[in-house]
Amino acid sequence: MRRIAPLLDNQVTDESLYLGRRTFLKNSATAALVAGLPLFPGCGNDGNAKAEAAISETRPLAEITPAPARFRVDEPQTPESDATTYNNFYEMGTGKDDPARNAHLLRSEPWSVTVEGEVARPGVIPLEDFLRPHPLEERIYRLRCVEAWSMVIPWVGIPLGDVLRRLEPTSKAKYVAFETLLDPEQLPGQKRRVLDWPYREGLRIDEAMNPLALLAVGMYGRTLPGQNGAPLRLVVPWKYGFKSIKSIVRIRLQEEEPATSWNLSAPREYGFNANVNPEVSHPRWSQARERRIGDWSKRPTLPFNGYAEQVAGLYAGMDLRRNF
Ligand code: MTE
Repeated sequence: MRRIAPLLDNQVTDESLYLGRRTFLKNSATAALVAGLPLFPGCGNDGNAKAEAAISETRPLAEITPAPARFRVDEPQTPESDATTYNNFYEMGTGKDDPARNAHLLRSEPWSVTVEGEVARPGVIPLEDFLRPHPLEERIYRLRCVEAWSMVIPWVGIPLGDVLRRLEPTSKAKYVAFETLLDPEQLPGQKRRVLDWPYREGLRIDEAMNPLALLAVGMYGRTLPGQNGAPLRLVVPWKYGFKSIKSIVRIRLQEEEPATSWNLSAPREYGFNANVNPEVSHPRWSQARERRIGDWSKRPTLPFNGYAEQVAGLYAGMDLRRNF
């Protein structure tokens, strides 16, 4: 396979440009509201108005169990306007603001999830049925991107382990593999072979069963916007953000370690484990510090993104420099 030049980098947009764009975003939305104009996608050609529209198409979620202390980071939350306009979702473009601009192309309803492989209860399951047995829970987690920026996001979702237990993995199920929707019309970034589509990710089954691993359906009390992975995405807060695969259509339980997109693309840069580790540099930059989006200065990165107490045991005896 041709080696695709790795695109993920840590060139965070220059802060002044970034803040300038946000102000413009705010102003364009406000101006449209004042003028009484609807902000529908496709009306006019202002990409920023489309970004605002994509966010406003989300719905409030009800009956959410508040996050208990062990699932709640005690740090200021990233403003929703930042978490929904500064994204990595290469199927919607490689620029940080492309996903918000292209999100209106994604039809997240109706949606179904194919469950297959080593499970007693495989099937093509409509999303409503997939979610129905599980109460929605809030989780306020740090998200640490491999590019050395981070956010604090209040997610809404269901523990992945609860879902897997209901699907009844067989004794051969050692890994869980996930796939994103493959449809270049809805995800126009797939028209370019930036990665080997569909986007794929995976976890060991014991990682997937850890109570921190979440299947998110919402954020900030509302359903997920397209740019954040509507209608269903993974959130694995102790691993680099690329493990948190968006817009999931397939979950496969299997005996072998699954192939994963960034690892296939650049195996020496992106490992299968991808645990946040300030001591192991990316070949092209240090992982010791990170920029919290909205902050000017950098802060130290924490081992396992601050979740060592809950997950370090999963890697006992492993050489985390070799198994990066
Ligand atoms: N999932 C898919 N399908 N495609 C992607 O490009 N990017 C990943 C991850 N999930 C990505 C994806 C990366 S690199 C990060 S950092 C997070 O999504 C970003 O999530 P956010 O945009 O909601 O902050």
